Amino acid sequence: MAIMTQLIHTLIAAAAVFTAGANAQCGAGSPHATVTGGGNWFQATRGSAQVYAGSDYRAAIQAALDAISPGQRVAVLASGSIGASTITITSGKIFEGCGTINVGNRAGRGAIESTDTSDVQIPYLSMTGNPYFGMRFSGTRNLVLGKINMNLSGGLGIRFDRDRAPNYNVKMDTITVTGAGSHAVETWNIDGLTINSVIARNVGECGLLMQKTTNARVGLVDGQNVATGNGYATLRFANENGKLPNGRYDTNVHVDRVVSRGGGRGIFCVSQSGGASIGNIDLANNGNNAILIENCYNVQIHGGKVNGGGEVRLSARSEFPNNRDVSITLQVDNTSVREQPCGQNIRWNIWGNARRQTCS
Ligand SMILES: *[C@@H]1O[C@H](CO)[C@@H](O)[C@H](O)[C@H]1NC(C)=O
Ligand SMILES: *[C@@H]1O[C@H](CO)[C@@H](O)[C@H](O)[C@H]1NC(C)=O
Repeated sequence: MAIMTQLIHTLIAAAAVFTAGANAQCGAGSPHATVTGGGNWFQATRGSAQVYAGSDYRAAIQAALDAISPGQRVAVLASGSIGASTITITSGKIFEGCGTINVGNRAGRGAIESTDTSDVQIPYLSMTGNPYFGMRFSGTRNLVLGKINMNLSGGLGIRFDRDRAPNYNVKMDTITVTGAGSHAVETWNIDGLTINSVIARNVGECGLLMQKTTNARVGLVDGQNVATGNGYATLRFANENGKLPNGRYDTNVHVDRVVSRGGGRGIFCVSQSGGASIGNIDLANNGNNAILIENCYNVQIHGGKVNGGGEVRLSARSEFPNNRDVSITLQVDNTSVREQPCGQNIRWNIWGNARRQTCS
């Protein structure tokens, strides 16, 4: 009897796992609205009601979004092109882009936007094209981005605006951006950010650029051929990133791992950013500084390696106070380590064949 009960419990548990797995696919289960069709004909339906039929893919998607209530879900099953236009997601709506959404460049605007909203979720998205911003956000609360794939031919992947309302509690799972001309992911004005991973391939500027963003946790930032020929980086902190409202730089930005190959810089901290702890890094053959830390406060790199590429450098511009409270534990081979000018409370623990010119 006990064995039978155990077996039933095991079967129920297995069924639950299976159901969860099936629901974890784009468009699975019963979305409240769908967009189907292709080519020159698209249809949006909510339940059994048709809310759009015609040739305009963007209009079909927007009609589906406008037909659902907060807490409900749209699955875009069709692939198509929205041209240089914008899909707008209002509060509480769940948007799944299961087909491939091709987008154009609308100056200053996102192909998908959600601004001044709460509880918007985009669990899946597959985007191609050359947007100004693939996705554009500001003033969001509890925004969730899931598995986002952007295979672009230019433009910027995901952007949180600089001159607009701040965002609170943003979560991202896996963001993969290929071919952006600018950054893969650029944040401004977020308090409370969790990212599982940002994977950037052949991206013009940064993989992950964080600005005025506090209380952040990032798993992995992985860049290949990011920022080639310029001063951007696979991971860049800028414009007072990590500065708390009280003006302090207590550690509040945590990054588990950074991997970078080729491109421009690997890791770049600048313009009074800091409060950052980076767990483990693996940088090789960066075309510009493997690491550049310039006017940053409380930055720790706890381990890993740099092989080749530009020098590991602590530097300063005269417009801001010099680096302070920086600690770097790292194997560095086939490039150099330089601290110039000398910062304040800088702790180096460097091994490997690197040439060293440091102050402590
Ligand atoms: C991205 O798109 C290009 C051109 O359409 C294609 O050749 C490439 O395989 C795609 N890459 C990924 C990672 O999907
Ligand atoms: C770099 O340094 C390592 C360790 O000293 C060495 O084994 C390696 O051959 C060097 N060269 C390259 C191109 O990695």
